[in-house]
Amino acid sequence: MEIVVHDLRAFAHDRHAIVDDRPYGGGAGMVLKPEPILEAVARITQGRGTHLILLTPQGRPFEQAVARELVEHPHLLLVCGRYEGFDERVRERLCPDEISIGDYVLTGGELPALVVLDATIRLIPGVLGDTDSARYDSFMEALLDFPQYTRPPVVDKLSVPEVLLSGDHERIRRWRRKEALRRTKTRRPDLLRRAELTEEDRRLLGEIEEEKGSG
Ligand code: ADE
Repeated sequence: MEIVVHDLRAFAHDRHAIVDDRPYGGGAGMVLKPEPILEAVARITQGRGTHLILLTPQGRPFEQAVARELVEHPHLLLVCGRYEGFDERVRERLCPDEISIGDYVLTGGELPALVVLDATIRLIPGVLGDTDSARYDSFMEALLDFPQYTRPPVVDKLSVPEVLLSGDHERIRRWRRKEALRRTKTRRPDLLRRAELTEEDRRLLGEIEEEKGSG
């Protein structure tokens, strides 16, 4: 894997390497000029099958499924905006995959590009150890993680749940699944609604409901 950083200003034509200009129609802020971007994309991709991404708050929301999609492309080119945004003709000419990392506005696309890269690169086989990658198969991703503990067994009068010290792998698996379901139900009910649940999951959710009723 190779990452190359390109400076948009290297593709400007004037002496001052200007890449932005005032918006037609007036208003605050500056707009990224189309030519440096069109030229940069043409020179960098050189006809290779490159998947072009524009980082903007107007893009489709970035999530794990998008990272799984991106990791399949042999070449990615991420274009970071600054200022008020891109001249619309960049979109018309290049039809990029526009991605937003969340409903907030940053000063530029650089941090979003790093976020997208990090989430995507860790999916390349061999980047994570086997044990980690196994934990993050698509089924596990549908739920939030279960609580984790490490030594010591008691700290500040707080104990590790007994089941985790039992050595009973089946009980531990069940407990973890149940706590993942509990946490997801409490914190992210939207994820739970989207998740593909097994028979066992439904049983465990039933138990969680009953505990609430009796507690
Ligand atoms: N550029 C500025 N804010 C952004 C966001 N939230 N996502 C992607 N690119 C951006």
